[in-house]
Amino acid sequence: MQVSVKIPTRKEIKPLGVYVPGKPIEEVKREFGLTDIIKLASNENPYGCSELATQAVVREMEKCALYPEGTAPELAAKLSARLGVAPEYFIIGNGSDEIIRLLTRSYIAAGDEAIMADVTFSRYETNVLIEGGVPVTVPLIDGVHDLAGMLKAIGSRTKMIFVCNPNNPTGTIVGRSELLAFIEQVPSHIMLVIDEAYYEYVSDPDYLQTVPLLASHPNLVILRTFSKIYGLAALRAGYGMMHPSIVQELIKVKEPFNSNRMAQAAAIASLDDAAFAADCARRNEAARTKLVSELKQLGLSCYPSHANFLMVKLGRSGDDVFHSLLAQGVVVRAGSLLGYPDTIRVSIGTEQDNQVFIEALRHIVAPGGKPA
Ligand SMILES: Cc1ncc(COP(=O)(O)O)c(C=O)c1O
Repeated sequence: MQVSVKIPTRKEIKPLGVYVPGKPIEEVKREFGLTDIIKLASNENPYGCSELATQAVVREMEKCALYPEGTAPELAAKLSARLGVAPEYFIIGNGSDEIIRLLTRSYIAAGDEAIMADVTFSRYETNVLIEGGVPVTVPLIDGVHDLAGMLKAIGSRTKMIFVCNPNNPTGTIVGRSELLAFIEQVPSHIMLVIDEAYYEYVSDPDYLQTVPLLASHPNLVILRTFSKIYGLAALRAGYGMMHPSIVQELIKVKEPFNSNRMAQAAAIASLDDAAFAADCARRNEAARTKLVSELKQLGLSCYPSHANFLMVKLGRSGDDVFHSLLAQGVVVRAGSLLGYPDTIRVSIGTEQDNQVFIEALRHIVAPGGKPA
């Protein structure tokens, strides 16, 4: 007998789509009967994580019967010493995804507006919608946040602004002086969330260091993560830096044990291995430069990326190219899912993975063309 659920969901939840992650390797293997798959779809770290983090996780497993310290004080203290910000300014999340959710949960009420770029990281919009808030989107200009447009979009219901820097999916950054002027102009009753998930990859001197501004701007929130350069995506560890009174509000709505023992131990150990992170940043930059030039040889261009991914402009259906790459065992992100139908987003992999990607792409965009 077919039975149906008669309990209505909240009206805010009904129209929401489900987050579509990069296709898992196991799924592609099954679907295409392939054994060798290269996944360049989720901006993960192709070099894994620090050996110190692996050892810390194994050690911490011995205590897995014990609940973790919910506010991760040791990790907060370590970050505090590293970044020169008082420990009360930190909140540790089950990924920075969770901190985005805690911010909207605590501060967005039905009808409140949140300004964000169109296109940017999709979790801002989803979490605002969950709370009954109204996302106000401001189109990017050449893949870059239109900060002047975002200022103009501020209205009486504006509660929050998201700036993703570098922006996912375009990889672009906003200029130092533009962002500084923007921070100065956002009224202090509006929360300004700057998401720096890819901070450690940026080497451009025109990138604004936002941390020193926390003390003078109590409406400023900075988000970072251990999922990218530290290679701990599976463990879920991210953090936010913000005025301690905001931290206290978020703690009220977070799960008591949101950050698990293994994640905390791995994050702490990762901070002791600066050489690993520096090496990943260096290799990423070299591989990205090479990939951009190889794409150029195929007649393709990208937005200027400062992160560990590239948004490739194809001038044709990104979905078609995505599927053709998939059939060759290369998983990227179809731009249509990210708001750019004629693009794909590709994460920067190892030298070897990038070569497989380029050759697979060459088969599609320049069939019969000579390998370089
Ligand atoms: C811009 C941005 N912010 C936040 C996140 C979430 O990262 P995590 O929850 O793994 O810390 C991501 C993940 O891809 C991202 O691209």
